[in-house]
Amino acid sequence: MQVSLISTTPFLDQKPGTSGLRKKVKVFQQAHYLENFVQSIFDSLEIPAGAVLTLGGDGRYYNAQAIQTIIKMAAANGFSKVLVGRGGILSTPAASHVIRKYQTLGGIILSASHNPGGPDDDFGIKYNTPNGGPAPEKITEAIFSISKAIQQYQLVDLPAINLNQLGLTQLDSFSVEVIDPVRDYADLMESMFDFAAIRALFASSFSIKFDGMHAVTGPYAQEIFTQRLGAPATSLMNCQVSETFGGGHPDPNLTYAEELVKIVYGSNAPDFAAASDGDGDRNMILGKGFFVTPSDSLAIIAANAHLIPAYKSGLAGVARSMPTSGAVDRVAQKMNIDCYETPTGWKFFGNLMDADKVTLCGEESFGTGSNHVREKDGLWAVLCWLNIVAARKQSVEAIVKAHWAEYGRNVYSRHDYEGIPTEQANAVMAHLKAQFDTLPSRVFGRYTVATCDDFSYTDPVDGSVSHGQGIRVLFQCGSRIVFRLSGTGTDGATIRIYLEAYEPDVKQHHLDAQVALAEMIQLALTLSQLVENTGRNAPTVIT
Ligand code: G1P
Ligand code: ZN
Repeated sequence: MQVSLISTTPFLDQKPGTSGLRKKVKVFQQAHYLENFVQSIFDSLEIPAGAVLTLGGDGRYYNAQAIQTIIKMAAANGFSKVLVGRGGILSTPAASHVIRKYQTLGGIILSASHNPGGPDDDFGIKYNTPNGGPAPEKITEAIFSISKAIQQYQLVDLPAINLNQLGLTQLDSFSVEVIDPVRDYADLMESMFDFAAIRALFASSFSIKFDGMHAVTGPYAQEIFTQRLGAPATSLMNCQVSETFGGGHPDPNLTYAEELVKIVYGSNAPDFAAASDGDGDRNMILGKGFFVTPSDSLAIIAANAHLIPAYKSGLAGVARSMPTSGAVDRVAQKMNIDCYETPTGWKFFGNLMDADKVTLCGEESFGTGSNHVREKDGLWAVLCWLNIVAARKQSVEAIVKAHWAEYGRNVYSRHDYEGIPTEQANAVMAHLKAQFDTLPSRVFGRYTVATCDDFSYTDPVDGSVSHGQGIRVLFQCGSRIVFRLSGTGTDGATIRIYLEAYEPDVKQHHLDAQVALAEMIQLALTLSQLVENTGRNAPTVIT
């Protein structure tokens, strides 16, 4: 095989964010842009003889072209084999599983998660390490610094691989194996959950609706829900994969999964509904006319984990990202297990899982997962809920309300202000930081400020420190407001305001979160001067 060295010059904007490098497709389509970043990934690795790379993406626009380029570069950089999902497609959790199962030297996942796809929309790329998880900051920083100095990249001029044909293509000492993207993952799920109980549930009058949002989980949902669990085909909607996600925004929340939400709150609503995102790692859980907040979902899965075969023998511990509500902390306390608070982003959970300190993890951003892989996992979360519903023989709403009655309710909401000019967003954050010394002890209606800070985290496994992970205003009553700038957007800045109030009184549990949090929402705007600084008077998305 003839390796060509191609001269290039650095792009200075290839800094990975919360979850890999995300840019507009047009940015990735610039000559050498993708290649520079991929070469920077490879240059950050020691690639031993015989190394195998896992490769796949969420199927969005530009996925197929990028896969062909990366295969040529992997061959040139010393990989002996690339395992690629059929059609170049692997959901993010399935990719994590493939990396672990076949012990590959990590993988490259092409995804911009829940961001829209298409020629004018987003594309993304990230490297996952051999444990199957997103590269930790020390690796993403190394990749970024290599990208700023890159002079050349390597590729082998191979013929295009037919990605639709399963099987092995041998090209000299290098090979590409196109694998079934669904089977290994579906087998893993079947080994973890009580499929017989869920099958019996589906055979009763219990109805479900799963919304694939035209994204990667469609084929997985077909295999798991209809083939293996016997749900009728009408249980699935939007399960045809499309490279523009049907023109939609594949983010499973009350705003973007509008079509499903209408069904759930309409007449003839199903007993259970769920959706997942572009790359299959996020989930939204709904009951009949009822929405489960992701923070509650994590807590409830933890509290009921003993009903799921995979977790019968107990949980080592749990973890949540800092902005995620403290509902799971209460469960951990009662179970007498550790609960870790990490910065936003799944990469911070990897060390805790590898060290067997935690079994379950979650984020308020519709991400829940466990140590079966090293990514959050949308369909896994759906199966957790179905398994719990089948075992408890109660509705989703009844399970949630019983949980609140036992532990109290951490009333929670996140308000996003998207597409803000960067200077304005920075001004909001600066205004908050300027009040760190003066806010403690101040009284605002029913809230008295206890402390405020910019969250820092020291990884308990490797001691690495991450600063600047979000501004916290903590109140004496245990309620809190968190302000963060998004690290995944591609248009200006997004300010996220996370609001949480603890409500032990069952008589208040019926209240809508926006009503229960009204005073705190107002206070968040007062403290941040967000309206004054940005001219916005309402969030773009409320979850
Ligand atoms: C967002 C979420 C975060 C999640 C990430 C990747 O990141 O808030 O919890 O891990 O997407 O799915 P952000 O845009 O807030 O940086
Ligand atoms: Zn995602």
